[in-house]
Amino acid sequence: MKILVVGGGGREHALVRTIRRSPLVEAVLCAPGNAGIARHAECVPIDPSNVAGLAALASSRGIDLTVVGPELPLTLGIRKEFERRHLALFGPSRAAAEIESSKAFSKQFMRRNGIPTGDFEIFRSSREARSYLRGGSARYPLVVKADGLAAGKGVVICRDPDEGAAAVDAMMDRRVHGSAGEQVVVEEFLEGREASFFVITDGDRIVPLAACQDYKRVGEGDAGPNTGGMGAYSPNVHLSEVVFGEVMDRIIDRTIAGLSREGRPYQGLLYAGLMLTEDGPRVLEYNARFGDAETQALLPRMESDLVPLLAAAASSRLEKTEVSWRSERSVSVVIAAAGYPGAIRKGMPIRGIDAAESVEGVTVSCAGVSAGPGSELLVAGGRVLTVTALGRDLEEAIGRAYDGAGRISFEGMQYRRDIARDAVAAGSAARRDL
Ligand code: AMP
Ligand code: GLY
Repeated sequence: MKILVVGGGGREHALVRTIRRSPLVEAVLCAPGNAGIARHAECVPIDPSNVAGLAALASSRGIDLTVVGPELPLTLGIRKEFERRHLALFGPSRAAAEIESSKAFSKQFMRRNGIPTGDFEIFRSSREARSYLRGGSARYPLVVKADGLAAGKGVVICRDPDEGAAAVDAMMDRRVHGSAGEQVVVEEFLEGREASFFVITDGDRIVPLAACQDYKRVGEGDAGPNTGGMGAYSPNVHLSEVVFGEVMDRIIDRTIAGLSREGRPYQGLLYAGLMLTEDGPRVLEYNARFGDAETQALLPRMESDLVPLLAAAASSRLEKTEVSWRSERSVSVVIAAAGYPGAIRKGMPIRGIDAAESVEGVTVSCAGVSAGPGSELLVAGGRVLTVTALGRDLEEAIGRAYDGAGRISFEGMQYRRDIARDAVAAGSAARRDL
């Protein structure tokens, strides 16, 4: 098979690596990819927003399956563009992807379908939002969320009415996230442990993958602003057999069935961002795609071949199969540029990737990089690299990941030193077969 991966970050680098391991695959292309991915796939400079250009590429190069990494092409209707040309694509339609692209839609969908999630109100006017936030029925802390896509940065936890009003002012009046702030969701604050839960589905049958834990805040001890993700580990130690069953029955099955019933059948990877509360799992958000950096942590543990699963889901022929996993644990640490998640500086040379990969069990995925002189890579984006390590247990995986990260250097590099440390302390309730 010839496979095209759409996107150019660490998630796509991990997908490319895993896909090319499959005995079914003869060639992997990536659009646009990046200078690091170019070591493992033929990169073609087409932007993920150019869905017609991507379909033309898939057609002219005889691609058997296209796998979409980021959400943007999904929300621009890449599925329809590919269906029109009878090209196989792994990723949901624009209508199904609305469960990620509109938080207002996804919250109302959950309410309609009895899917457990925090209580909420939706506002289209900043005046009404402020009056609710300053009124007697608002309970603090609470969470204010921009409706649309905001690269993981459109969520503000507010301790009092002034913070709530400031969030509404930024999102709805000053439009710091553009049209994503046309509506806001004001949501109950939930306490517990977070889990990133992934399934592959063809809209009818569902194959669960292992769950991860994601570290979204930029600073150690979960301090500072939210980012796209600063690290992850897998499997999630907080997800017991019982909770796993509850998530499948009360969340995943109802979501896939509800979307089909509402005329938005879902094909692709469904990512449920969960809060495991004392009263059971609750959905914080859905994503219509693989997570970044969860994918870098998840895929190296996968023993089954990913490619037949992707191909079967894309063509509505998924069968109920058990995915098998290596017994090792994995840890991914994101290395970011100085200033991330704010403005960053670019162009600094990156050293030590080969040295990092010489540590047993370590692979490095490239995200914000560009080609420098010779084989040198330069910093070109906020999240620059992900260092992933496998280990017999979490402690070994953590040790190896940080050994690898310590061998990498570029000016201003930053990373969290505490990824997965709380998980070691928590012990493991994770299902044994994950
Ligand atoms: P989201 O983009 O909706 O997943 O939110 C980003 C992050 O904000 C989540 O991973 C949580 O850490 C936090 N968060 C979102 N919603 C809530 C909530 N209702 N209660 C507590 N924390 C939340
Ligand atoms: N790591 C969170 C995400 O991919 O949305």
